Amino acid sequence: MGDAGERAKFREMKEGTAQDWAIIGGEYRVLAGGLADRVLDHLRLLKGDFGGFPICRLEHSLQTATRAHRDGRDEHYVVMALLHDIGDTLGSYNHPDVAASIIAPFVSDELHWICKHHGHFQGYYYFHYLGMDRDAREAFRGHEHFDACAEFCEKYDQAAFDPDYESEPLTFFEPMVRRVMAKPLASLYRMEETVEAAE
Ligand SMILES: [Fe+2]
Ligand SMILES: [Fe+2]
Repeated sequence: MGDAGERAKFREMKEGTAQDWAIIGGEYRVLAGGLADRVLDHLRLLKGDFGGFPICRLEHSLQTATRAHRDGRDEHYVVMALLHDIGDTLGSYNHPDVAASIIAPFVSDELHWICKHHGHFQGYYYFHYLGMDRDAREAFRGHEHFDACAEFCEKYDQAAFDPDYESEPLTFFEPMVRRVMAKPLASLYRMEETVEAAE
């Protein structure tokens, strides 16, 4: 990956050849194989970012994931919990969408839905203090994943601001992230070789 290798010759995509795309395809497999590490690097950017909360955003992420893990949730759920706020840096106005997009190829529809909508459901615990409607989540009442999202926020997300809670370190979760991200369940760019290369 990077600048050093062979490069495609086209100046416009419509001039592309099979040889060009063999080069790019090879590079893509390397890029895709490094996804988990890049995600983990980005998650580390939340360290020390308190935003006024009792604990920093990385500790909140670790505590959310740890609570889910200790409650017996499976690996995909725990990884969703770990990454649910990773979008705080780049998606300051829509952070759940960022995390949901990152995990989308690797998790069930339910886990994706929980991640994407957790902002509305989390608001139940504080929107009324900011002049907003704490019942914003009611717009989704009746959805098949409503209860699962409410449960995520109640048990793990809103509960994960305790400075005295002993969370597992990020190293504990790193192998889980790598395993979950090694196997896309669905992607526009899915190639069998990608899955194999990442394993
Ligand atoms: Fe969040
Ligand atoms: Fe959160």
